[in-house]
Amino acid sequence: MSLAQTLERFQARADSALDHWLPRSDVPPTLLHEAMRYAVLGPGKRIRPVLVYATGEVFGTTGSALDSSAVAVELIHAYSLVHDDLPAMDNDDLRRGRPTCHKAYDEATAILVGDALQALAFDVLAADPALTVDTGMRIAMLHELASASGSRGMAGGQAIDLASVGKHLSLEALENMHLFKTGALIRASVRLGFMASGQSDPLHAERLDIYARAIGLAFQVQDDILDVEGDTEVIGKPQGSDQDRDKPTYPNLLGMAEAKATAQRLCDEAIKALSCFDTRADTLRRIAEYIVKRDR
Ligand code: IPE
Ligand code: IPE
Ligand code: MG
Ligand code: MG
Ligand code: MG
Repeated sequence: MSLAQTLERFQARADSALDHWLPRSDVPPTLLHEAMRYAVLGPGKRIRPVLVYATGEVFGTTGSALDSSAVAVELIHAYSLVHDDLPAMDNDDLRRGRPTCHKAYDEATAILVGDALQALAFDVLAADPALTVDTGMRIAMLHELASASGSRGMAGGQAIDLASVGKHLSLEALENMHLFKTGALIRASVRLGFMASGQSDPLHAERLDIYARAIGLAFQVQDDILDVEGDTEVIGKPQGSDQDRDKPTYPNLLGMAEAKATAQRLCDEAIKALSCFDTRADTLRRIAEYIVKRDR
């Protein structure tokens, strides 16, 4: 099966699980539920759910045991995008080729959409009967998602991002910001796939962690590159937004050629980290390549 086919299969699985867990829009409060569905079910790449499923594949785990992890991490991600686009943050009007949540609805609704999606993420992980791990592992998974989302994860990275507008950052500080704002949730996706598979081998955990750290950073480096070189129609969000808001980015600090070389080095590093796994890790290997080659 080609990577495109595998991605499509995992994306479709994630979409149907998300649809299942999101409240119906004819159930009150209908406007909030409609806006939650709008924010989540738009045409995103679902790379975080894909990573959950692909990590499960390494250990022969089937879809239903992985669905709650895939849904939980995508709900946190969708909430982070809704808040990221607000006027108080990046002030963007276009997301996934459509008006951002606060444009399609209003700012107060967009804030509540984020609040509600975040709560739903933890509810799904806490309550899904198809997650077959024991209670101790389930609590460890909730802890994992909480750490990756909070002030020492994605939200912390967003705080660093906002504090860095108009500033010159060292390469180390820029890397740190990217590892938090984007790397943390990508790492959590792989960790949750591992944990939902009932795995705890420390060597395997360490190798997957090195892989996830590298692709997480590479993902945001490529996002920075696409902000410069991407096509608004293809990326589905306004090209040049970072430049407009004077954000520190990899192409800004290193130049475009070195930013691309950095992304490629991270991809190589990620693939090397998987050397202890057999061909069942091939999807993870191909995802690393996809992350630095993607045009959206
Ligand atoms: C965009 O994430 C924000 C970043 C963390 C770079 P994605 O590129 O995964 O966005 P969607 O989900 O595909 O829209
Ligand atoms: C966002 O980074 C990271 C998040 C945690 C949402 P960006 O601000 O670069 O993401 P885009 O480019 O708006 O998708
Ligand atoms: Mg941002
Ligand atoms: Mg943004
Ligand atoms: Mg960006």
